[in-house]
Amino acid sequence: MVLWGVDVRSGARRITLVARPRVSRPHTARAWAGAAMLVVLGATPRAHAQASALLPRPASMVFAVGEAPFAVSARVVVETPANASAAMRAVAQQFAATLRRRTGAVVAVGANATGPATTARIVIDSSVSSNNVSSSKAEAYELLVKADVIVVSASSSAGVRWGLNTLLQLLTRSAGTSTGTPVRWTVPALRIAEAPRYAWRGSMIDVGRHLLTVRDIERHIDLLSQYKMNVLHWHLTDDQGWRIEIPRYPRLTSVGAWRRESDGTRYGGFYTQAQIRGLVRYADARGITIVPEIEIPGHSSAAIAAYPHLGCTNDTIPVPSSWGVFADVYCAGKEETFTFLFNVLDDVMALFPSPLIHVGGDEVPKDRWKACADCQAVMRREGLANEEELQSWFMRRVATHVATRGRRIIGWDEVLEGPYVPNGVVQSWRDASMTRKAVTRGFPVIASPSEVTYLNRSAGELSMRDVYAFDPMPSGLDAAQRSRVMGGEVPLWSEHITSGANLDLMALPRLLAFAEVLWSGSGGDYAEFARRVDQVHVPALRAKGYAVGPNSESLVTMSIGFDTVAQRARLRLPFVAPGLVIRASTDGTKPTGASAVARDGALLSASQTTRLQAFWGAQAVREERRVDVLRHAGVGARVTAAPVVDARYPGTGAFGLADGLRGSSDHGDGLWQGWWVPEVTLSSALPRGTPGARVEVRFLQNVRSWILLPRTVDISFSADSVTWSSPVSLTNDVPLTREGAIIHVYSARAPSAMAVRYVRVVARGGLLPAEHPGAGQPAWIFADEIQVFRR
Ligand code: ACM
Ligand code: ZN
Repeated sequence: MVLWGVDVRSGARRITLVARPRVSRPHTARAWAGAAMLVVLGATPRAHAQASALLPRPASMVFAVGEAPFAVSARVVVETPANASAAMRAVAQQFAATLRRRTGAVVAVGANATGPATTARIVIDSSVSSNNVSSSKAEAYELLVKADVIVVSASSSAGVRWGLNTLLQLLTRSAGTSTGTPVRWTVPALRIAEAPRYAWRGSMIDVGRHLLTVRDIERHIDLLSQYKMNVLHWHLTDDQGWRIEIPRYPRLTSVGAWRRESDGTRYGGFYTQAQIRGLVRYADARGITIVPEIEIPGHSSAAIAAYPHLGCTNDTIPVPSSWGVFADVYCAGKEETFTFLFNVLDDVMALFPSPLIHVGGDEVPKDRWKACADCQAVMRREGLANEEELQSWFMRRVATHVATRGRRIIGWDEVLEGPYVPNGVVQSWRDASMTRKAVTRGFPVIASPSEVTYLNRSAGELSMRDVYAFDPMPSGLDAAQRSRVMGGEVPLWSEHITSGANLDLMALPRLLAFAEVLWSGSGGDYAEFARRVDQVHVPALRAKGYAVGPNSESLVTMSIGFDTVAQRARLRLPFVAPGLVIRASTDGTKPTGASAVARDGALLSASQTTRLQAFWGAQAVREERRVDVLRHAGVGARVTAAPVVDARYPGTGAFGLADGLRGSSDHGDGLWQGWWVPEVTLSSALPRGTPGARVEVRFLQNVRSWILLPRTVDISFSADSVTWSSPVSLTNDVPLTREGAIIHVYSARAPSAMAVRYVRVVARGGLLPAEHPGAGQPAWIFADEIQVFRR
């Protein structure tokens, strides 16, 4: 670290006295006070580099002048205090196991453990006072390394863990030589004393959308522990899957854990109670609390698919296989809903010792409650003015039950839309103003504003530098309000995270920036941080088998273009992250790690579906991309639109409506063209006369994305662009209430005698319906192709 006078790259041996005051934000000034002055001498250059690469950066680190390093000898003893708690002894045992594995030394643990005189001593001292410490101070430790002994002092097992964890980062290996000098492990003589800036340092993983294996989750826990994070928020239920075994409700996992994908395959799975107990133990042994989340009352389609009476309509619904927000939520008017939720939460609390239980509360559409006699009856009975108050009442009932078991709830920031439970915790997500809102209303808050913490967003959108600039603490708060900011979390929503390698690639390296902000405070020197990451931590993580993504680019930049010369669709892959390979299949099967490699510039065959998938080794990364290429007589036609297409949705460009490429259910897939106007006219000049043409025009509807199918589409034909057939007028009968993406084809036949050269399509859009957030405004019109067939 340059700040400390040692250049990591050169590792030059020199004597340096650095006294460089930092310009810090007020809350970080104290943490940095000790780091401003540092004497470097005696330690080897390798050890300097290693110590200077510590991550999170320590608040205070002072090398001992002239003192030899501590050498790990063939025998090491880790001395625990006579009155050490079981937790502290477990921390020592785990450290000993790691030290044994790393160095090959024989490591004994115990109170007054003794050994031969050549034994190296690592002493755990817990006699320091723990009185009146704030919760983050409860994790404080001091690490003193001398030539003959290492002392880790802390009042709690957590503090001991972080001190020993620092010690492991400091272990420096000197290579053996050809003349037979053995490998030596040393730790530079120094003193580090610190406590985390924030007590809540979390990562959130979502297994509702895509599953992770138990081993994937363990590896993520290892990562959190290594970087002194302490919470794994486990999002266990969502619309697309229920993932926790609850024996008294078997359909949750026999039905609610499985969905039918658009290609007909079945996707799903869940974690058994035994697996969950194992993971809770695994996490606990590494200083990580697993905080379970059961989503209430929204994002609950999977549970309602399993038990339809939990919804307002009692209708049987499928477990959805698309992403978004769904109308079916738990009915607030039926007592069975609460019986179910209390039973589920009792099982959850039996499995997870976490004092805080997350119960969701985000993104709850109120459509069903407004139309439900039971819900409306509760509102009258309880004197609730609207459905927002009904949600508050719902959450309060849940919180009251959780409190009877001695626990408290966490809710996403929508819980601030009405009265919240007095001892509830808020997790801000919509933006940073929600952090401020929570603390000014008196609630403790976990800050995870989506714009700077959602690691499911690509590093192209949210770079490591952006994450490093995150400050959980809003400005201008008073001391009491500031004390309510518990810390933060990085959520990893898994709509597009399909495997453990994919999780790594989204988390790393950006998680390291977040870990440092939460432990050391924000306002660090980014360039210096990035050097530690790039030069030391990324290579070390890769050596441990973690997949590490780019600092500031998306994993893959892929698009499909239309080559006007070849009159064919062409794959564009301007960027693929190192280590990833794009593979393709055209025989209808899912691509595997052995399928053909797809390269930038490849032409796609007509009349075929190409399935493209990124792989890290054998693990799929992101969802597959399917490209349907259709041969028809309109491919290569010149299409003009009035008005011109919206710049945000240009499709593949000038030939976007005549490129033979079919858009998917995702309006942002780069194949759909969009207009935010009440009416659009598309005029197509075909490459050649087509006798007796049949035209099919594809339009999209996705009500929640403000896209409606045209109310009417008029299609007319001409051989010479002067004389036109009378328009065929088509109306749309797809109801506006249908959820999700719907692709509808409007079809017309030209007069049989005409050799059609020109086609005109006039699409008239609708207004967004009542109940829609944009009610009364024009909807978007989305089209992807004017298909022309000879009949
Ligand atoms: C959220 O991202 N809906 C909490
Ligand atoms: Zn209801």
